Amino acid sequence: KSLKPFNTFGIDVQAQAYQRIDSEEELISTLINYKDAPLFVLSGGSNMLLTKNIDALVLHIAIEGIATELESANTILVTAKAGENWHEFVQFCIRNNYGGLENLSLIPGYVGSAPIQNIGAYGTELKDTFVSCKAIEIKTGLIKEFRNSECAFGYRSSIFKTTLKDTHIITEVTFRLTTNDHKVNTSYGAIQELLAKHTVTAPTPKDVAEAVIAIRKSKLPDPQKIGNSGSFFKNPVVTQETFTKLKIKYPEIPSYQVTKDQIKIPAGWLIEKSGFKGKRWGDAGVHEKQALVLVNYGNATGLEILDLSKRIKKEIKDNFGIELETEVNII
Ligand code: EPU
Repeated sequence: KSLKPFNTFGIDVQAQAYQRIDSEEELISTLINYKDAPLFVLSGGSNMLLTKNIDALVLHIAIEGIATELESANTILVTAKAGENWHEFVQFCIRNNYGGLENLSLIPGYVGSAPIQNIGAYGTELKDTFVSCKAIEIKTGLIKEFRNSECAFGYRSSIFKTTLKDTHIITEVTFRLTTNDHKVNTSYGAIQELLAKHTVTAPTPKDVAEAVIAIRKSKLPDPQKIGNSGSFFKNPVVTQETFTKLKIKYPEIPSYQVTKDQIKIPAGWLIEKSGFKGKRWGDAGVHEKQALVLVNYGNATGLEILDLSKRIKKEIKDNFGIELETEVNII
């Protein structure tokens, strides 16, 4: 079966076998039935670059459902199953005036994969509202619960990407959201500008969601139209010393202070500065409005995209002495 419809990069590779999973019971019984068989877990397919056929049984986790439970006068616990489309889930929260996820609007993918890389955008990360998730251990079929503090969340990282990589399948995620007295995060400049333009003075989660959607639409390609996996690389963090040297050579270099001695530099700037923005080789290219996003214009292979990413990495290393780290999972 072709996996092209199941990965947002739109890469056409074949799966040896494919099974859509619609419930936790089905997942557990499948894990037991195929105990020693090679498995490949597929969620929204929005953060992976497939470079070869998958010689395994692909399990497409499509379990759906949303449940809510009032927690206090101002908070509600919202639980979504792993196969819920992330953006539709955020929209559900906005419609119900639950605050906390608005900055994460329009991120491609499913709820189940969101904790793995601790998705983040516009000053907010999943970990800020994540309470816990339920996961099934692949080896044993046992159900486990992971609280926020057990997930080792970091910048685009969690325990599910490190120590527990490929050992568990997340089946549902619970968030703590606000029902009134919302604390919206408008720290990102472009959000402030849009709100000011529309003369919004006390922004609601819905106002912020609308601003985020407008910003993303203006610079990020829609995977339905042009294949992509969002940011292909992480933004590199360098020391103050390295940054000072770069700043002398490139006074205009953008940056954000992370800690006293850690400075984050937008990889998109480094890539643009190296001349890659908007360039295209066959169907593999660098997005014209956001150089951090690699794109598939139709029939690029995973290896062509990977090759382009390697050339970018080398160029950045040569030009700036910075080692870019891939954000997307290369399969
Ligand atoms: N920039 C350029 N040229 C470019 C792109 C960016 O010069 O082509 C510079 C500009 O100075 C711009 C700055 O980089 O002001 C930051 O750009 P942007 O606000 O677009 O954010 P980013 O750092 O490139 C990160 C996340 C995005 C997230 C945005 C907004 C990572 C790897 N990426 O991108 O996340 O949406 O911030 O918060 O941290 C994703 O992970 O897939 C993703 C899209």
